[in-house]
Amino acid sequence: MKSVSMTVNGKAVSGEVEGRTLLVQFLRDTLGLTGTHVGCDTAQCGACTVHVNGKAVRACNMLALEAEGADVTTIEGMASDDGALGVIQAAFQEHHGLQCGFCTPGMVMATADLLAENRSPSEAEIRAHLEGNICRCTGYHNIVRSVQAAAARMG
Ligand code: FES
Ligand code: FES
Repeated sequence: MKSVSMTVNGKAVSGEVEGRTLLVQFLRDTLGLTGTHVGCDTAQCGACTVHVNGKAVRACNMLALEAEGADVTTIEGMASDDGALGVIQAAFQEHHGLQCGFCTPGMVMATADLLAENRSPSEAEIRAHLEGNICRCTGYHNIVRSVQAAAARMG
């Protein structure tokens, strides 16, 4: 076991992990941040998307030890401290951008990544950016509408 330390959602955290422990396992199992989902465990579905040093990454495709010293944001960090939904989360709720919700944390984190770079993405740009995030409920139309609404609100 090795110790690892990082900042998660603005708080300094640390824990003991094995060399093979994935970042998503550290977030969910050690820190109890179960909002980050595991859909495939093989970097194919995007459900585990979090931000590491401001960029969207798949937390099932990164070792916890690789995040040593990093600044990590999970879906829990997108809401306010009082639990109020963030702008993107609220847009997904209002525009029915989710059905079962399994893909939603990853979709929200991928959307935040897109809007940090491009505040007024076209529909094609939204679809291209979310291409690696798979929704098994096939709710893509409303997901795109949700992203457009979030962009309009943030713009
Ligand atoms: S669980 Fe990480 S990409 Fe699917
Ligand atoms: S809302 Fe069910 S997987 Fe996307």
